[in-house]
Amino acid sequence: MTELTIKQPSDFHVHLRQGDELEAYTVQTAKHFENILVMPNTKPPITTAERLTAYHNAIQAILVKHAIDCRIFMAFKLVPGMGERAVLDCIRAGALIGKYYPSGSTTNAEDGPTHPSDIKEELRTLEQAQGILSIHAESPTSPEFLKERDFLSTIEYILERYPKLRIVIEHLSTAGTVDAVLGWPDRVAGTITAHHLRYTVDDLLTDGIDSSLYCKPILKTEHDRKALISAAISGNPKFFFGSDSAPHPFEKKHIFPVPAGAYTAPVRLSLLAEVFEENDALHMLEYFTSTAGTAWYGISSSNSYITLIKKPWKVPDCIDGAFPVAHGRTLQWQIV
Ligand code: DOR
Ligand code: ZN
Repeated sequence: MTELTIKQPSDFHVHLRQGDELEAYTVQTAKHFENILVMPNTKPPITTAERLTAYHNAIQAILVKHAIDCRIFMAFKLVPGMGERAVLDCIRAGALIGKYYPSGSTTNAEDGPTHPSDIKEELRTLEQAQGILSIHAESPTSPEFLKERDFLSTIEYILERYPKLRIVIEHLSTAGTVDAVLGWPDRVAGTITAHHLRYTVDDLLTDGIDSSLYCKPILKTEHDRKALISAAISGNPKFFFGSDSAPHPFEKKHIFPVPAGAYTAPVRLSLLAEVFEENDALHMLEYFTSTAGTAWYGISSSNSYITLIKKPWKVPDCIDGAFPVAHGRTLQWQIV
């Protein structure tokens, strides 16, 4: 196959940053997409309806300026002491999810809970308001490779105590978490990134460190990657696309301490097409990127399409002032 037309995709996990960086990242991340879900780990964090609305309006203004027809969905951060009122206000302001970042788990997550009991009032409110909980599922105190595995028991704690809460486990990175999501009730789903489907820890560390691939959760083994691919191409409604595209300035990715975050917005569909093609599953790409996520979130989906063609292109070393994944490599697929 040299050409593939699919319904316009949705990306249910993106970071757009703020300030001077917001415009370029927003354009790159929203173009060609029908929906994007914007993460709240800004500084200050999105923890109030006022901040959520201001952030939404700033992004929307950029889309209007560039005539990009993409729906943006917002998230707010669940932090200890936030209270019932703020949670309800964020939901009323249109937030699609409340995000749980364990304290210290990733970029700007110092203010998160150390245990779900730190935000029990907020979780109860989210459940009662029929909101959706999104989780960065890593245990900050565990060794890097075991952080996700060690957080599974915390998810089970939340599942038991909040029996009606719908939950998305973000950026699945291990075979064990894929199995766990499969075993949990239908109210639990998982997003999978393009980089966790394409790369392993060996791409990050062998033959010189590639800091563009340094992210949380850290890339795992080929065994894990294969399990993620099986999930993504399976057509199971529990698994859908969320890129976790997380740009950091080019210079910051080249000096110590390198921040975690993989900028994949410019390459995510090319990477996905490559992986799906290698696994004889190009016919499942549309379900994973364009159907499963909107169905799980209950979002209406339009009848717009995009076309990918097989035409090699070389990824530049710097895009939008950031250091993109696959820099310097030739990718096979591009969007027309
Ligand atoms: O690597 C990551 N970077 N993982 C995250 O969860 C957050 C992100 C960021 O914001 O830079
Ligand atoms: Zn993220």
